[in-house]
Amino acid sequence: MTLAARISGVGRYVPERVMTNEELEATVETSSEWIVERTGIRERRIAAPHETTSSMGTEAARRALASAGITGAEIDLVITGTCTPDGLFPATASAIQNAIGATHAGAFDVNAACVGFLSGLATGAQFIATGSAERVLVVGAETLSRIVDWTDRGTCVLFGDGAGAVVLERAVPGEPGSIDSLLLRSDGSQAGLLYSHGPCSPLVDGLQQEAKIIMDGRAVFRQAVTMMCDSATEVIARAGLTVDDIALAVPHQANMRIITAMSDRLGLPMDRVYVNVDRYGNTSSATIPIALAEAEAEGRLKPGDRVLFASFGGGLSWGAMVIEWAGVGSRRLVAASAARSAGA
Ligand code: ACO
Repeated sequence: MTLAARISGVGRYVPERVMTNEELEATVETSSEWIVERTGIRERRIAAPHETTSSMGTEAARRALASAGITGAEIDLVITGTCTPDGLFPATASAIQNAIGATHAGAFDVNAACVGFLSGLATGAQFIATGSAERVLVVGAETLSRIVDWTDRGTCVLFGDGAGAVVLERAVPGEPGSIDSLLLRSDGSQAGLLYSHGPCSPLVDGLQQEAKIIMDGRAVFRQAVTMMCDSATEVIARAGLTVDDIALAVPHQANMRIITAMSDRLGLPMDRVYVNVDRYGNTSSATIPIALAEAEAEGRLKPGDRVLFASFGGGLSWGAMVIEWAGVGSRRLVAASAARSAGA
C-alpha cells in the first residue's frame, strides 16, 4: 500500500541551553562515563523558562515551511505529536497553527508517547491519500525536562527538549516521493513499564499524583530492541524491499545501544543509520523529525532514497515506516522548475 504523500519540507529547533553529563554528576549519583557507556548520551538541551512545546514546535514548523518554500496559509492541517502538551487543552497544534498563520487549517494533537510523530505522519498521509488535505504540517515537540524526576538517576540522564517538523504534501506524479509502508502497534497491558501521571489520574489518598516519568528501564530496553527490529523488518517487506534498499534509517533516538542492536539485527550498517542521541538525548516525539532535518541539512538524503523510520515508547507503543525521499521544495516549486526547464 503506497500513499501518494511526500515530505517536502523539514525543520528543527532545539533550545540553546546545553546540559552536559558533567552537570548531572553534581546533582545525582552518576558519572559521565556511565551515561556515555550505557546510553551514548553526552549532553541534552533544556527549554528556557519561557519556552513551551508549542513555541519550540512553532520555530521548527517555520523552518519546515521555509524549506518547503510555502507559507502557513497553504497548510490544511496541523498535527502535533507530543506527550508534553502546553496544557490539557486547547491542543498544542492549535497554538502552532495560530503562530504560523495557518488560517485555513484544522489542528489536533496525537499522543502515542515517543511514537507521536510517526503516528501523526501516518495520520497526515491518510488525509492526503483520501483527498481531504493537500498539505499537512506534522510536528513532533516535547518539553520533557518539566516531567523528568531530577532526583532519579535512572531516568533524568536520558531525556531532553526540542522540536522537529515536516511538511507533507500530495506526491508529484512521475517524481520521487511517497509513503511506501507503515505499521503502528500498541500493547497497553505493558503500560506500567513507562508512564507519567497527569492532572486527571486517580487520586491516591485524596492527593493528585505528580506528573513525572516513571520507567523500568531494563524491561523497556529489552522490549525496545525487539519492537524496533520486528516492525522495521515488517515495513521493509511490506514495501517489497530488502534491507539493502534502505539508504538511511532514522530511528527513535533513545539509547545508542538500542540503535546499534537494531543495526546489528537488521544487518543495516551503522553508516546508513542516523545518530544524534549523543547531542540531544531522548526528545520523545521530536527525535525523528530533528534527526531527519539534520540528515537533510548534512546532505545525507537524495531524491529516490528509501528512508526507514522506527520508534517505540510508552504504551507500550511502537511503529515503523518506509518512505521514498522526494527532496525538499513543494510541488508548486517542483512544477514551476519543470516548466522552466521545458521552456528552456
Ligand atoms: N548512573 C549510574 N548508575 C546508574 C544510573 C546512572 N544514571 N542509572 C542506573 N544506574 C545503576 C542501576 O541502579 C543499577 O545498579 P544496581 O545494579 O546496583 O541495581 C545499574 O546501574 C544497572 O542498571 P540497569 O537499569 O540494568 O542499567 P541498563 O544498562 O539497563 O541501563 C538504561 C539503564 C540506560 C535506563 C537502559 O535500561 C535503557 O536505556 N532503557 C530503555 C529506556 C528507554 O529507552 N526509554 C525511553 C522510552 S521512550 C518514551 O516513551 C518516553
